Amino acid sequence: MSESFIARYGPWALVTGASSGIGREFARQLAARGLNVLLVARRAERLAELAEELTGLGVAARPVPVDLCFDGFLDSIRAAAAGLEVGLLVNSAGFSLTGPFLDMDRDDMARLLNLNCRAPMALTREFGPAMRARRRGGVVFVSSVTGFVATPQWSLYAATKAFDLLLGEGLAAELRADGVDVLTLAPGTTRTEFQDVAGIDDFMGMEAADVVAHALGRLGRADVAVPGWFYRGGIFATRFLPRGVNRAVFGRLLAAMRKE
Ligand SMILES: NC(=O)c1ccc[n+]([C@@H]2O[C@H](COP(=O)([O-])OP(=O)(O)OC[C@H]3O[C@@H](n4cnc5c(N)ncnc54)[C@H](OP(=O)(O)O)[C@@H]3O)[C@@H](O)[C@H]2O)c1
Repeated sequence: MSESFIARYGPWALVTGASSGIGREFARQLAARGLNVLLVARRAERLAELAEELTGLGVAARPVPVDLCFDGFLDSIRAAAAGLEVGLLVNSAGFSLTGPFLDMDRDDMARLLNLNCRAPMALTREFGPAMRARRRGGVVFVSSVTGFVATPQWSLYAATKAFDLLLGEGLAAELRADGVDVLTLAPGTTRTEFQDVAGIDDFMGMEAADVVAHALGRLGRADVAVPGWFYRGGIFATRFLPRGVNRAVFGRLLAAMRKE
């Protein structure tokens, strides 16, 4: 256990998307560092299993089954977190819609905005003030490499991830003087259930454990973390190219990943 990590970000972390993939891995690695964890997602059974696993590491872990797309989700989370000192918020829950924007289902589009943008915004507004008052704490936004570049057939998802990236980057500067560390994690393809939900193939996929280890290594040291040299190099290169060229390259790469 890391005493300084617990002192800086403990005693409780709240992790959204904890039933799968990157969020589940955050929960595991934070518990391994000695933080108690509130586990947020919809699938209650999965959260209960994970809570049992994490309790075995000697921390407290509580499942919070809630749908973050619906109005009123904040009330459920407030009730679950009542009386607990949440020192680290990890906004990982998210999904992607791909394909022609004009053919997308309107309800799905609203869910996408609610999950990828409204929930991280509302949760940060909810738990941030207490962190500021304590002058310590951290917030992680899980964006994506697609947040850096407009991407045809992924236009709406990329826009939601650009929202996360700009919100996170702005807050990193805004809250630094208050002692709150804000990190935006921008992964490339990572092997999780995300690909199944989005209907895409795995391409240059990283392991969620490596992505999360990279993020936790950068928390408090950087504003933005892009795991993997391939993706880091690619995002760095976008700075020197016209936006239209970046868009064309990303469009081609990501089109190749879509299952028809
Ligand atoms: N994997 C990648 O290639 C990749 C790349 C770049 C960025 N990302 C980002 O990484 C984040 C995590 O994705 P992942 O790869 O870990 O995907 P994942 O394995 O599909 O996990 C998504 C998580 O979000 C939760 N979730 C989905 N809808 C929800 C809702 N309405 N309310 C509450 N929770 C909900 C899911 O739990 P339930 O279904 O149980 O609710 C699950 O725990 C996302 O923000 C994604 O955009 C992923």
